[in-house]
Amino acid sequence: ESSIKVALLGFGTVGSGVYEVIESRQNQLRHLVGHPIEVVAVLVDDISKERKMGSHVFVTDDFQEILALPDLDVVVEAIVGVEPAYTYLSHAIDQGLHVVTANKELFAHKGFELQKRAKDQGVELKFEATVAGGVPIIGALTKLLQVNQVLKIEAILNGTSNYILTKMREEQISLEKALTEAQALGYAEANPTNDIEGYDALYKIMILTELLTGRKVNQNYVRCAGISTISTDDINQANLRHERIKHVGVIEISGEKVFSEVSLLTVSESHKLYSVEGVDNAVLVTGDLIGELVFQGPGAGKYPTASVMVEDLVDIYNPVSKSIKLVTKK
Ligand code: NAP
Ligand code: HSE
Repeated sequence: ESSIKVALLGFGTVGSGVYEVIESRQNQLRHLVGHPIEVVAVLVDDISKERKMGSHVFVTDDFQEILALPDLDVVVEAIVGVEPAYTYLSHAIDQGLHVVTANKELFAHKGFELQKRAKDQGVELKFEATVAGGVPIIGALTKLLQVNQVLKIEAILNGTSNYILTKMREEQISLEKALTEAQALGYAEANPTNDIEGYDALYKIMILTELLTGRKVNQNYVRCAGISTISTDDINQANLRHERIKHVGVIEISGEKVFSEVSLLTVSESHKLYSVEGVDNAVLVTGDLIGELVFQGPGAGKYPTASVMVEDLVDIYNPVSKSIKLVTKK
């Protein structure tokens, strides 16, 4: 029986999670896509590190060796930053491979180019894991809200920042201590500056804005603030007023006008983001027909992120739409 052959780029928090999910859900995956899914190779930075994976998996730090593998079908990318990821994924697409990525910094800056490239090559490029961790917001916006016009998005998009703000309030610990916990839990980026200075949420806002408007967003035109300046005192002051400080990204669309920003917002108990706590993300979507929808769930971490990436992988081979047969009247 032929298998779907996957190469993982990156074997950190996310990459190792994808590997474990594929290994542990073999029967279910075979049932869903009609073939076994096999991780045949892994690209890492440091090949001397100990890794928990089968001895049959080819481990390399040379991407050309991945491309040279015979019969490869999909590249699942979970490395860090725009380069070398952009070059790697461009080559993979040009070679006719499907791609699943979690790399929001890459996708915020080069998603447009990669999508065009994938379309030209007739391959799939899936990016659910780039925004809101385990919350399937890309699928919701692209598959479930096609007739609605999205007018507004208001969202907590950085799990690390929300976790830190929650811990500072609940346990009265410093930002630095809460960040150390978030790093240990696998929530924070390799460079946590991206989390606490707001850039990670900004990349997600850029991806969502581009998805909704079809227009590329220039990072320099989006105002961005992070949580690094917040003290427990600020949080306690807000708490006395029955308010909470939240790190929020906003997109407002009115005809041709688009406004995006990432900032700190003080919200009262009646606000839907008030009770979104810990590593959770939440995306409030206002559609012109449906009104307001709330999507909430774990915004970072190994298994929530691996979950949406493996769902993306399955969707390439077994999209719901392909399984529906239209009944034509005679
Ligand atoms: P991580 O734990 O730091 O792992 C990164 C992995 O990429 C490591 O295995 C590292 O190799 C490898 N790597 C880094 N640069 C490389 C290069 N130039 N060439 C080859 N391999 C390279 O990071 P992570 O948390 O898994 O995140 C991975 C990606 O997913 C990032 O783009 C991140 O923004 C995104 N993401 C993360 C989360 C999350 O909750 N953590 C959620 C959604 C999306 P070594 O093992 O040899 O160091
Ligand atoms: N560092 C990111 C966060 C990972 O904390 O939200 C998920 O994208």
